[in-house]
Parts: sequence; structure tokens; C-alpha cells
Amino acid sequence: MVKVDLSGAMGFLDSTGPDYGAAGQAHRALAEGKGAGADFTGWRELPRRVQGEELKQITAAAERIRDTSEVLVVVGIGGSYLGARAGIELIQPKNGPEVIFAGTGLSPDALVSKLEQLGDRDFSINVVSKSGTTLEPAAAFRIFRGLLEKKYGAGARRRIYATTDKARGVLKTIADKEGYESFVVPDDVGGRFSVLSAVGLLPLAAAGCDVHTMVGAAAEAMYELDLRSPDNPAWQYAATRNALYAKGKKIEILASYEPSFRYMAEWWKQLYGESEGKNGVGIYPASVEYNADLHSMGQYIQDGPRTLMETVVSFDRPRKDYEMPFVMGDPDGLNYLAGRGLGEISRVAMEAVKAAHVAGGVPNMGVSVPRRDEEGFAELVCFFEMACAISGYMLGVNPFDQPGVEAYKKNMFRMLGKPGT
Ligand code: PA5
Repeated sequence: MVKVDLSGAMGFLDSTGPDYGAAGQAHRALAEGKGAGADFTGWRELPRRVQGEELKQITAAAERIRDTSEVLVVVGIGGSYLGARAGIELIQPKNGPEVIFAGTGLSPDALVSKLEQLGDRDFSINVVSKSGTTLEPAAAFRIFRGLLEKKYGAGARRRIYATTDKARGVLKTIADKEGYESFVVPDDVGGRFSVLSAVGLLPLAAAGCDVHTMVGAAAEAMYELDLRSPDNPAWQYAATRNALYAKGKKIEILASYEPSFRYMAEWWKQLYGESEGKNGVGIYPASVEYNADLHSMGQYIQDGPRTLMETVVSFDRPRKDYEMPFVMGDPDGLNYLAGRGLGEISRVAMEAVKAAHVAGGVPNMGVSVPRRDEEGFAELVCFFEMACAISGYMLGVNPFDQPGVEAYKKNMFRMLGKPGT
């Protein structure tokens, strides 16, 4: 299970520590459906709900994709793609089709390079859009679907998997008309909380992740995260980051020493940024990748404006350690590390960075799970989702809406001349 280490943050708080009373109230509002946006809290039930028939359908479709395709093109944006990408990059499953993510922008250069990457290989498409009207994925879907139809003719429709609203929207209409196999984005789950539905599970399963293990671990994690006590890691993280925010730490940087964590950090930024940044308040979520960024952003973090807090996600054990070799004569002066695992060296570096940043005025919260695998992924997802809901309620916002995202869409559709805008 996720562990939270607050030893690097407590020195920055009042002697009363984090406000667990407020965290408890927020948790109660969430559990009793009495908080803002209560209609969008179905994500808490997803791991239990999806087990059974739905998971069977997902894994059967994933098997078909694996049998027939060298590439899976996943078309979606925001909550309709980040969770799947985060999981695939973190877990790095083997032997599945290559997954190309499309529909995250309108850059022609990016599109052309994805088409080149795809080449002439056999492929399938999983198009994911709850509304069906989001321009970026809709445009990419039109283009990739055209290619598929050219390559496979009438058989193309058997290679398209649509994940969308159960009854409404353009994508649902097209899927029904064309007979695409469809999966549902539940009504009571917003995009950024949807990774443990078919939205994330189908691409994860197709890529080769063990989604049964993942969903089982998630169900257990959701149960444990319902604990009403300051021992709940979600309370600890939510209450501490809010207390630090009240002390002027307006920016939270999420750091990891694992390069494969990069898209988890992107997923986390969406989760927290879209959930909390509203009504003129909210911690700004940013991310860094250590050790690389210690040599770029490290200067700012150590020495810039003291408005930062830092959360470091780590994994207790590497999948496979690697020992520093001994070299005769010690030409590079590294023999003091010889015989030690890189895992241990990295851990010491992490402790050293923590001490330096805390001394420099950056509070540090540690979040750890045992391993970088399906279970670790599920535990992190459930932990961050639960903490986000509690944190948002503590901040006094509705963590489940995103009214601000509509502003650019309205302008863009009007300026592009969409009928009716
Ligand atoms: O979290 C969200 O709600 C958003 O990021 C959406 O997932 C994103 O805008 C894509 O929307 P849709 O799935 O309707 O295409």
C-alpha cells in the first residue's frame, strides 16, 4: 500500500500539524455524496464495478487487438488518454503491439510523424471520447479511420473500438451505425478519474498489462483508502499540501527518480490542476524528473522564490538492480561505489536531495509504493484520486468539474466557423 512520509514537511507547519479534522469532514462529504459534484464520484466504485463481464469484454477485445495488430492507435486527449499512457510507460509491458497515442493536438508535423511511425503495419484503433465532440481526437480519428478503411475495406470496422458515452454523442452514433465494438465511459466518472474504466483498461490490456491484477489491487486500495483516520495516507497528503499552501507554498512539484514515471506525472498534473485550479485558488502542479532535472531546475528549486513544495514518488525496490563495476587502477575515481547496487546509490542521492531542499526552504513529502508494476500503478492511481477529492473539498472547490476548459473551445469553434457557434 502507498506510504506517505511527512518528515520533510512537518518543520514547515504549525505545531498543530496538518488539519485532519478538515480532512475527515471532506472525506465524509465525499462518502455521503454531500459535497459539490457528488454526481461524479463513481470512480471510487470503478474497480469493483468493472470486475466481471466488463473486464471479460475488455480482455477479449485486447486479445483480438494483440492477435491482429502490430500497432494500436489510441485516439484521445486529456483524461481520455493520459491514464493509459501513464500506465503503459510506467509498467512497460512486453510483447504487445506498439501503442501510438494520437489526437492530443492539431500539429500537422506531429501527425505526419505518427503516420510515418505507423508505416504499413497492421493496426487497430481505440478511439476514446466521452463527449465525442472534442476537436483534436475527432480530427485524428477521421484521419486514422480513413487510413484503416483504405487498408482493410469493409473489415476496417472490426478493427475500431470506441470508448464513449453509453447513449449520447457523435461517436456513439457513428459506432452504432458502423457496428464498432463499444465500451462505456460511465456517466458518473469524469475524464481525469476514468483510467480504471474501459478508457484506460482497454489500451493497458492490449499493450500487455495484467489488468486483472491491476483492478484487484485497485479494489483493495480503494477499500483501504476509505479509512477514516489520520493514518489514511490520502488524508496525510491532502491535509499537508493544503497546510503548506496556506503558508504560501503555491506550487507543488512532483518528482520521481524513475524516467518511466514521466507520464504518471502528466496524469497527476491534469488530475490536480483541473480539479483544484478554479475560483482563483489552487496549488499549481508542476513536475520534474530527477536526477536529470537536478542539473537544470535544481538551481531554481534550491534557491529561487520560496513558493515551492515538493512531492517525491519512489518505488521501494527496483525491478532489477545493477552493480557498479570495479575498475583496476580506478581511473575515473569511482571505485568507492564498486560493488554497490545502483538502486542503493540512487536512494542515497534521493535522501541527499531531500535534505538539501528541506534546508533550502522546500518542504518535502514522500509517497512510496513497493514496485513499479500493475499493483504499484493501481495503488498510486487510487491514492492520488482519493487525496485529490479530499484536498479539493478542503480547498473549498468542486474537484469534479472543469468549467475553465470550455472557454478556449468556444473561441476555437467560433473562429473555425463551426456551424451553430
Ligand atoms: O478530464 C476531463 O474531463 C478532460 O480531460 C477530458 O477527458 C478531455 O477534455 C477529453 O474529453 P472527451 O473525452 O469528451 O473527448
